Amino acid sequence: MPTTADNAIPAHMAIIMDGNGRWARQHGLPRLKGHEAGAETVRCVIRYCRDAGIKVLTLYAFSTENWARPPAEVLGLMSLLKNFLRDNEPELHEHRVRLRIIGRRGDLESSIVRELERVERATAAYTGGQLILALSYSGRSELVQATRAIAEEVKRGALRPEAIDEATIAAHLYAPDVPDPDLIVRTSGELRISNFLLWQCAYSELYVTPVLWPDFREADFRAALDAYRQRQRRYGRVEAAQ
Ligand code: FPP
Repeated sequence: MPTTADNAIPAHMAIIMDGNGRWARQHGLPRLKGHEAGAETVRCVIRYCRDAGIKVLTLYAFSTENWARPPAEVLGLMSLLKNFLRDNEPELHEHRVRLRIIGRRGDLESSIVRELERVERATAAYTGGQLILALSYSGRSELVQATRAIAEEVKRGALRPEAIDEATIAAHLYAPDVPDPDLIVRTSGELRISNFLLWQCAYSELYVTPVLWPDFREADFRAALDAYRQRQRRYGRVEAAQ
């Protein structure tokens, strides 16, 4: 169980990057231009996190529900992802940042999976921080795959049902060694978790800003960290002094 001791800086920040479409509409541009501007924000936020000493950054880049968007938008997002990998890989190596993917990677085009897995392997030993991209991700489907894997272990006699506890479930998630997010930021004002890190968000602090993702700048990032610093993380307990 985590303690209330230090919440000066979140060790793990997760972001629901929302509002690219609205940003594009506000600027009279096609939706894809909003995603392009959003990808630029991603680049900047990775740097803000590094400068702030945040060890793990998880970005909700593409949900399983996003496959239902118009094919041209899906294609555009996938091509942005490829470009993002190409443009940002040198920086991952420079700062020894490990790239990880969570989600149903088999849903992605095989050439993208190959590239993602190549970078995952090339950065696997780095300890300078972690960048986790949630791609074709759904919290419910993560729990379904964990449940299936646990059921298989029970079936082959490797696990007794009564031995299943929270740690068993946590151990079967996509990135079991990653600590739960301390802070989840959502841009563009919606007050929803949208199927993101459903197991891991149990005690995360939530911060919602009306700022649209492409407009999210360093001052907005600082505001999220300031808000986090004010929070009292009690994990269901009472204050020690009460
Ligand atoms: C939500 O905005 C955003 C997405 C569905 C995709 C997020 C993708 C990026 C920020 C760019 C690519 C990312 C990487 C890592 C290269 P929305 O389209 O739902 O906005 P709306 O709610 O205003 O329509």
